[in-house]
Amino acid sequence: MAQRYVLQAGDPVLRQVCAPVKNFNGELFALLDDMKTTVRAENGAGLAAPQIGVALRAAVVDVAEGYYELLNPVIVSAKGEQKGEEGCLSVKGKQGTVTRPMRVKIEFRDRTGKKHKLTAEGFFARAVCHELDHLDGILYTDKAEEVYDLPPED
Ligand code: NI
Repeated sequence: MAQRYVLQAGDPVLRQVCAPVKNFNGELFALLDDMKTTVRAENGAGLAAPQIGVALRAAVVDVAEGYYELLNPVIVSAKGEQKGEEGCLSVKGKQGTVTRPMRVKIEFRDRTGKKHKLTAEGFFARAVCHELDHLDGILYTDKAEEVYDLPPED
């Protein structure tokens, strides 16, 4: 498990529509293990494979509700609306105000290829929507009504 470099906005990989995961094998496990190490080292709420240069439909979300590996995730329903602040490990030093659904139901596969359904609400739903957007080459800055600089870290 290794921490991987997180690509920054402007890198073309972040704009690709990613390909479905087809091989649920050791190579995928290694990718997911690296993503977990990276999202935790960077204190992120989630990370998508294209952010570390791999254009596959794989994302991880790490929130209060738990740590999830989402492979080939699809939103099957969305309800309500929430407006709030969002950041991204690929857009360092910035934050923006983004409107997202309040609740989403998704279907996805785990690392063994098994299908799951999940309902996410509130910040969890926001994190899921943000990561799924990455798989289609979309950054939150595309949707934000305002993007502003954060004060520099000490
Ligand atoms: Ni992001």
